[in-house]
Amino acid sequence: MRLEDIPAILELEADTFSAWSREHLEDELQQQTGFQFVVRNEAAEMIQAVLCGRIMTDEAEILKLSVAEKARKKGMGYHLLDFVLNYCSAKGVKKCFLELRASNTAARNLYEKRGFFRVASRKDYYEEPVEDATVMQLEL
Ligand SMILES: CC(C)(COP(=O)(O)OP(=O)(O)OC[C@H]1O[C@@H](n2cnc3c(N)ncnc32)[C@H](O)[C@@H]1OP(=O)(O)O)[C@@H](O)C(=O)NCCC(=O)NCCS
Repeated sequence: MRLEDIPAILELEADTFSAWSREHLEDELQQQTGFQFVVRNEAAEMIQAVLCGRIMTDEAEILKLSVAEKARKKGMGYHLLDFVLNYCSAKGVKKCFLELRASNTAARNLYEKRGFFRVASRKDYYEEPVEDATVMQLEL
């Protein structure tokens, strides 16, 4: 992900509950422990997916995964996640965590398909609308 990708990412995320602001995306690009990847369709000059996370010694956290609405249900989310988990594994990561809204069945199914399992819930963790978070983990 590059600074100039941010306007396209804001557009991509416009329909999601988990959209980040321009400032948040810019801050993330500055994080020394962070990783940020996009799926770029160069022919269409489009960004089709984005994934951001952090690595802290041998643990990683996935902070964001979004696929553009028109590109969903074609395996892109799964393949981007798989790429990032292999990237993390090559960096020595042993465990990966993430949180999602309890009602986000599409994301939960995707993470379970790649081997994540539920380890905890966080009551009323999200705002607008208020909702519990499900915490998931994967051993790499
Ligand atoms: C969740 C999201 C990233 C999935 O991306 P995607 O590219 O459409 O997912 P894939 O096509 O790779 O699907 C992989 C698996 O996820 C599950 N899945 C994906 N979309 C689903 C849906 N709408 N309903 C139920 N399960 C779904 C399925 O298990 C699917 O496997 P299958 O094709 O063998 O059935 C996408 O819907 C998205 O960007 N949503 C909005 C943002 C969001 O909620 N991000 C996650 C925050 S934690």
